[in-house]
Amino acid sequence: MATVIDGKAVAQTIRSEIAEEVRALSQKYGKVPGLAVVIVGNRKDSQSYVGMKRKACAELGIKSFDIDLPEQVSESDLIKQVHQLNVNPDVHVCGKKCMQSGILVQLPLPKHINEEKVLSEISLEKDVDGFHPLNIGKLAMKDRDPLFLPCTPKVMLLKFSFMVSCNVDFILCWFAVVMNSACIELLSRSGVSIKGKKAVVVGRSNIVGLPASLLLLKADATVTIVHSRTTQPESIIREADIVIAAAGQPMMIKGSWIKPGAAVIDVGTNAVDDPTKKSGYRLVGDVDFEEASKVAGWITPVPGGVGPMTVTMLLHNTLEGAKRCFE
Ligand code: GUN
Repeated sequence: MATVIDGKAVAQTIRSEIAEEVRALSQKYGKVPGLAVVIVGNRKDSQSYVGMKRKACAELGIKSFDIDLPEQVSESDLIKQVHQLNVNPDVHVCGKKCMQSGILVQLPLPKHINEEKVLSEISLEKDVDGFHPLNIGKLAMKDRDPLFLPCTPKVMLLKFSFMVSCNVDFILCWFAVVMNSACIELLSRSGVSIKGKKAVVVGRSNIVGLPASLLLLKADATVTIVHSRTTQPESIIREADIVIAAAGQPMMIKGSWIKPGAAVIDVGTNAVDDPTKKSGYRLVGDVDFEEASKVAGWITPVPGGVGPMTVTMLLHNTLEGAKRCFE
């Protein structure tokens, strides 16, 4: 049976550390980090994600700036709002009054707004989502580091660095190289290397699949991206030492598709009908957990795996942005 990675527990540990750092910064400078969370329209899923982000800010002592715009807002008005957040002294960083270090525009945006245009207008230093084309571009280039890593792929890094600190001999811990030099030390001592290992990313979204594959590449994995037009994805996935599932297809990856002992990170969050639940639905991942957990070496559950960690990484990025300006 696979070792099940408890994302909730890892997230809780990291959140306590962030809260402690926020307290320390506040004592030292009399200011706290801040995060502007911009949402357009009333999509239920986006409202729910944004609610979680704002609540988490409050719990950790990070000031959240709530910007709620109507569905019909024009692209130019949204961009104006972003510009204001870029320069507003209250939401400005270095040397100014407040340490608001992050701006997040919740995606997807309504169809009449060009997402890329809006994301390009966010100040690079405040791009805590890591979605600015320049930050993504640096992620794609050899020997360049983006200012922020997109939150979900970043989950892989911290989760694995946590695992190293738990002395789990886990090949993916090598990812931590990008983030945390303490982990390099731990890894080099245990002789763990990802160089040349086969990683398969299922899905090619801008939010998860693409940046996850770039991150794996930076860590010298041999990376394959499987997507909706790939023929016989199962034969490719079966070769993988590492599987990142981010296709948005409920339980599409079966146990028989997994190489014995592989590490499986399930990013999928799919609601499927379940009349036995009060809500009428339950959440499942892109991986058939029942089957895959009998074959894999490590696996993340849904819910309780990657999900709780993503918001935590956003807060981590916000804190990092603030620290860059103050320390
Ligand atoms: N929509 C779904 N996930 C995300 C995310 O991580 N950031 C933003 N801005 N929008 C999202």
